[in-house]
Amino acid sequence: MIKVAIATFLAILTSYFLPFSPLPKPTYHSLFLSTSLTQNSSIAHHLFTLTRRPHIAGSEANSDAAAYVLSTLTSSNFHSRIVSYQAALTYPASRTLTLTPPPPDPPFTFELRQEIYPGDPYADVADEVVPTFHAYAKSGSVSGPVVYVNYGREDDYKTLDEMGVDVSGAVVLARYGQIYRGDIAKNAGSKGAIGALVYTDRKDYGGGGDDGGEWFPDGKWMPPSGVQVGTVYSGIGDPTTPGWPSTEGCERLNNEEVEESGEVPLIPSLPISAADGERILRTIGGQVAKEDWQGSKDGPIYRVGPGPGIVNLSYFGKQFIATIKNIIGVIEGAEEPDRFVILGNHRDAWTFGAVDPNSGTAALLEVAQRFSKLQKRGWKPRRTIILCNWDAEEYGLIGSTEWAEENREMLASRAVAYLNVDSAVCGPGFHASATPQLDELLKRATQQVLDPDNSSQTIYESWFGSSNSEEDTQSTTRCMTTIYGCKNLVIQDSIDMLQKYAKDLEVEISGKDINLTPLLKSIEELEIAATKIKHQIKAIKENEGWRSVWQKDHLKVREVNDRLMMAERAFTDRDGLSGRSWYKHLVYGPSKHNEYGSKSFPAIDDAIIKAKSLNSRESWQSVQHEIWRVARVIKQASQVLHGGLT
Ligand SMILES: *[C@@H]1O[C@H](CO)[C@@H](O)[C@H](O)[C@H]1NC(C)=O
Ligand SMILES: *[C@@H]1O[C@H](CO)[C@@H](O)[C@H](O)[C@H]1NC(C)=O
Ligand SMILES: *[C@@H]1O[C@H](CO)[C@@H](O)[C@H](O)[C@H]1NC(C)=O
Repeated sequence: MIKVAIATFLAILTSYFLPFSPLPKPTYHSLFLSTSLTQNSSIAHHLFTLTRRPHIAGSEANSDAAAYVLSTLTSSNFHSRIVSYQAALTYPASRTLTLTPPPPDPPFTFELRQEIYPGDPYADVADEVVPTFHAYAKSGSVSGPVVYVNYGREDDYKTLDEMGVDVSGAVVLARYGQIYRGDIAKNAGSKGAIGALVYTDRKDYGGGGDDGGEWFPDGKWMPPSGVQVGTVYSGIGDPTTPGWPSTEGCERLNNEEVEESGEVPLIPSLPISAADGERILRTIGGQVAKEDWQGSKDGPIYRVGPGPGIVNLSYFGKQFIATIKNIIGVIEGAEEPDRFVILGNHRDAWTFGAVDPNSGTAALLEVAQRFSKLQKRGWKPRRTIILCNWDAEEYGLIGSTEWAEENREMLASRAVAYLNVDSAVCGPGFHASATPQLDELLKRATQQVLDPDNSSQTIYESWFGSSNSEEDTQSTTRCMTTIYGCKNLVIQDSIDMLQKYAKDLEVEISGKDINLTPLLKSIEELEIAATKIKHQIKAIKENEGWRSVWQKDHLKVREVNDRLMMAERAFTDRDGLSGRSWYKHLVYGPSKHNEYGSKSFPAIDDAIIKAKSLNSRESWQSVQHEIWRVARVIKQASQVLHGGLT
């Protein structure tokens, strides 16, 4: 599947270009996508090199990987450089986990080690993998009875409440999967638990589901000793430098201030394997958990506790300031060098493997090499292309965030679009998501590339064919930016979405004294502004052909492009989401109770959730306030599309 990802990536990118002599655009397009530009072996070589050793952020191996990326970009004639930051990272210093089952069984101390399977070709460097842990977990030792909390969601605690089970003073055992692990630990802490263990249930990840299946290396499933490592930090960027870049000698928050920010859990946590989770589950008594809380059919019956099994959990992290390295490569645009199209992926990896992120890095290098070959044949991009290979993503998008913070004003006024590849290979099928303004672009790109798994159809056809429903497809492709060439209907898509969200909202707040009119009115105004710019674009295209307009009147085209570019930005607000101020977009954003989920009107959504639980006058007033804020940013977007002053 890696070819699909690359080809699509390339196709998406080429859609941004306008012709530049001597060859016409279609020639470069097809050259770009053709196999004649590359040996099949080059990407495999990148992937092999990048996956040879584990390379966690801050490690020497990751610094070596940075040098490899830099030298590949430099040899492709990109102006390339390392942009370093001093970021606060954590590694595990000590971990112990002991289970005391009810008598007469003696206490059992877990090894907390992932098995190396016989014949593993990477066994020689397996000890370079950092022991399993949660980055930024609270250090400490706790001891308490275990309560099984299913996925550790708000709803799961409601269920426990109904069963009369209290987690205060307990260590929770949660299975990973439905929500972000940082939210699992945070939710547990807010309910009074003193520690959290997060295991990967065999039913979800170990072939213990209805379809069955074998473990790695014989099959795709996680082996019983496999552990899902990750961060539990809920913010983005270096936690000690919120909102500003982590440069040498910069201002930093201390640990207490970071804890006060509410973005790190205040109880120790540890990820554990399916086997260890199951061993603990066998010592939990009490009421039988609900049907959908149960695990594999051949496993134990899950009960919720508390206890009688008691765990002693001890985790101590080592926090240190690490030099992290982003690699930035630039091809200067020929016609609009001050407009940036940015392609990025991250390089740091918790452990071995092709998926996350090494296939993405390999794809990025492949793209760079193809550009380089095109350049030798006379091609120049219209806008400046910036290739970014980020560091410390796994800890909380640190490398990219610090860079964006350092270059905030330049990016805010000049970046046209950002494309990201995290995992370029991950099972069968193609998956992408974007803001609604990029829907059309993604569609056209995937229509240009044949599905390597079935060459009688395009990726677009397989993607849509495999989707469960139109709705699913829409939400996958939905969500940005601003390219003149493919814009005409796209704003309309955004408006349709806004209208749909507003309808959903009407249902949410029915019966409450909330006035949605400002929001509905702002969407109506946006529709009028969008229709106007659509006609302007159409007129340029039909009357003269936009390429000839471009040649005659760069400024005119650019002015329209700028309005489109600014329209998306208008949805952002300096203050951001209440309590999560690093999220600036008021129309789309991650859900507060699960960073993996996305929400429309996240600020309104947060306020509604809070109001529903508090049900006070003030809390419903804040829903109204958030509706006003969203209406105001949508109004700004209309004004930008109109292009005039009041
Ligand atoms: C690259 O791989 C494709 C698909 O497997 C194949 O059709 C093509 O001939 C290969 N090209 C080269 C140069 O080996
Ligand atoms: C667990 O911790 C408690 C409290 O500190 C202690 O009394 C107990 O001996 C510990 N159990 C084991 C097995 O280490
Ligand atoms: C390949 O694509 C064709 C055309 O869409 C379709 O009829 C066929 O079922 C596909 N084959 C597989 C194996 O998916």
